[in-house]
Amino acid sequence: MEEPILIKVTRPIPEAGLKLLRDRGYELDIHPDKVMAKNQLMEFVQGATGILSMLTEKIDGDVMDAAGPNLKIISQFTVGYDNIDLDAAKKRGIVVTNTAGSISAPAVAEHAVALMFAVARHIPEADEFSRKGKYKQWDPNLFLGPLLCGKTVGIIGTGQIGSQFARMCHNGFRMKVVYSDVVRNKELERDLGAHKVEIEKLLREADVVSLHTPLLPATHHLMNKERFGYMKPTAILINTARGPVVDEAALTKALANGTIAGAGIDVFEHEPEISPELTKMPNVIITPHIASATMDTRVTMAECTAKNLVAYFSTGEPLNRIV
Ligand code: DGY
Repeated sequence: MEEPILIKVTRPIPEAGLKLLRDRGYELDIHPDKVMAKNQLMEFVQGATGILSMLTEKIDGDVMDAAGPNLKIISQFTVGYDNIDLDAAKKRGIVVTNTAGSISAPAVAEHAVALMFAVARHIPEADEFSRKGKYKQWDPNLFLGPLLCGKTVGIIGTGQIGSQFARMCHNGFRMKVVYSDVVRNKELERDLGAHKVEIEKLLREADVVSLHTPLLPATHHLMNKERFGYMKPTAILINTARGPVVDEAALTKALANGTIAGAGIDVFEHEPEISPELTKMPNVIITPHIASATMDTRVTMAECTAKNLVAYFSTGEPLNRIV
């Protein structure tokens, strides 16, 4: 008789994904929508054959061991997987998967565009000003911002999200694209005339700098005090990647002393905490890690997370294996 498959789902995900698992006869244990402390997580995962995880849970060797010997696979509900200890998974022969980058790339790129324009054109302040009844007469100097059409965008990391953002900026707003990455992106060079440059050159040239790297030891605090110093005082930083890619204290100082003009930030160094100093800056727009939060995207992410589990349990090979 076949072993029953028990999937521990750490937070509720869209029903479309859960249905795919139920249709296969898998047993689901879905934790309510509340982030668990490590000891709660260790208790919750006991007996799991598979864990369907979120970026809000740190899945380390202790958690894997707490699940017990039946744990075969961890299927992560996001494209980023910096919350999972891959070495620990490898050592234990546990497969780890993520959602395909192509799924969330359009939504995240759209959010980066939204932040870029919201910062440049002072949308939240203008909205507040209007609601408070402060608009008394048209004013040639009211809420002036830079024109972004034809300006230079610097993209750090040109995977699926960075590439889509580059295309939106170039095809939509005729922006010149410079990028920095460990590998050449020949498609962006061919299609958009993009130039690969050293990061310092990118920071010196760009009117908007947008971060699209994964969080790795090499990208931790990639934007630090020294690098903010290379940026134009009129430039805007956008971060929809991972919080620790930016030194948040250095960003706050750069915003406070005019080293840069503004920032649009969706992710935080100590998520979900946001440094109180940053929240006081008038020239930053802050959103709560919602770049991929379109209804369509979250449904497709749920389906992909479930399909990874189904493929693994039916064929031995998931669709998006990390390890
Ligand atoms: C991801 O997929 O990693 C995003 O950050 C969550 O939307």
